[in-house]
Amino acid sequence: MKVLIIGGGGREHALAHAMSSSPMLTELLATPGNPGISALARCLDCPDETTLFAAIKDEAVDLVVIGPEAPLVDGMADRLNAAGVAVFGPSQKAAMLEGSKAFARAFCDRHHIPQPSWREFTDSHEAIAYINAHPAEGHVIKADGLAAGKGVVVADTKAEAITAITNMLDDQQFGEAGASILIEERISGVEASLFAMADGNHAIMIGTAQDYKRALDGDKGPNTGGMGAVSPAPALDANPHLTDQAWREVVENVIHGMKAEGMPYQGFLYVGLMITDDGPKVIEFNCRFGDPEAEVILPRLESDLLSAIVAATKSQLHQTALQFKPGAAVTVVMANGGYPGPISPGGVITGLAEDEITNSMVFHAGTQMTEGKIIAAGGRVLAVTGWGEDQASARQTAYARVKKINWPDVYYRKDIAR
Ligand code: AMP
Ligand code: GLY
Repeated sequence: MKVLIIGGGGREHALAHAMSSSPMLTELLATPGNPGISALARCLDCPDETTLFAAIKDEAVDLVVIGPEAPLVDGMADRLNAAGVAVFGPSQKAAMLEGSKAFARAFCDRHHIPQPSWREFTDSHEAIAYINAHPAEGHVIKADGLAAGKGVVVADTKAEAITAITNMLDDQQFGEAGASILIEERISGVEASLFAMADGNHAIMIGTAQDYKRALDGDKGPNTGGMGAVSPAPALDANPHLTDQAWREVVENVIHGMKAEGMPYQGFLYVGLMITDDGPKVIEFNCRFGDPEAEVILPRLESDLLSAIVAATKSQLHQTALQFKPGAAVTVVMANGGYPGPISPGGVITGLAEDEITNSMVFHAGTQMTEGKIIAAGGRVLAVTGWGEDQASARQTAYARVKKINWPDVYYRKDIAR
């Protein structure tokens, strides 16, 4: 079959890599893709949805896999389905689990899914009055809609909470996405993420991971899209009972609840958890695979990802089981210095062809091909994954591969999985 991947980051490179060896595949396409993906797939240039739909028709694409959240939350899966194209990725309604944090929280309440307490506000006076009435508790202020990962403020003080509220509600820091905000109870524990594939009726686990969100070593500096990841997530791996509990209390209730409410969830489901003293609680849902979590989880997959995706589009996931290499994987993100702030892109990357490090993979996140050279073009540039019998050997392999790669402005964390 002919498969088209939508997206062009490290996650989509990892998806392309996992699908490229499938016996079901006749040709892999991607749009926009990137220089890494172009070694595995023919990349199409589709500047808008009209050209995209025309390309899907001209190329007789059998299946579309949507990587990023923006087109999912925008309803691309519904429009593809309406055009008779098979697609892996949730409908617009189902993608609300990521697209609206208030929707996700209210849904969890309806289905008794463990989570912090929360309130929704659209009026800053009411929100500030709430903070004043509950001064001692820690608060987390969140824009309701998509804010490119920047819409969450974990407030240490009352003043920080109030600033976040006025930034979002009065100064429209996130535009429409912050026209409504949540004030959540601040919970504490260790964070871990759980990834599922769902077909509307049934879900199977695809792995667990812990990502490193802060830019600098020692979990310092600003929040980023993720500077590295380890799989399995240490907090869940240490206690298999917790994974079972999270699966039963969260994933199964999401799948049953979404189906019962008439918006069956089909696609990857990313569950961000806090492992608290009272058990796992939901921090957030994403309606897609994580990035760099896809790059750390998928290299250990031994089963055919495309077969599982096809099964999901036919509501046959209950007949599917995924096999993984034993051990662990570690991904180190190589970024341009300054990320997530301003960067100086354009450095020529060397050392990419190095293949003497076995059990490793380099995924392209923000690269460009210019005059035959691979350029460091984005904030996050590469995601370098190593795997091995345990986390320590996976980390060693990942960093050994990282050390072969260079460009003038390269920056990466030295403490991933340490
Ligand atoms: P999110 O974008 O929802 O993943 O939030 C970003 C980060 O904020 C999470 O990874 C957590 O570290 C933190 N966070 C979000 N919600 C809460 C909460 N209710 N309590 C404590 N920390 C939170
Ligand atoms: N690494 C976090 C995310 O994909 O949202």
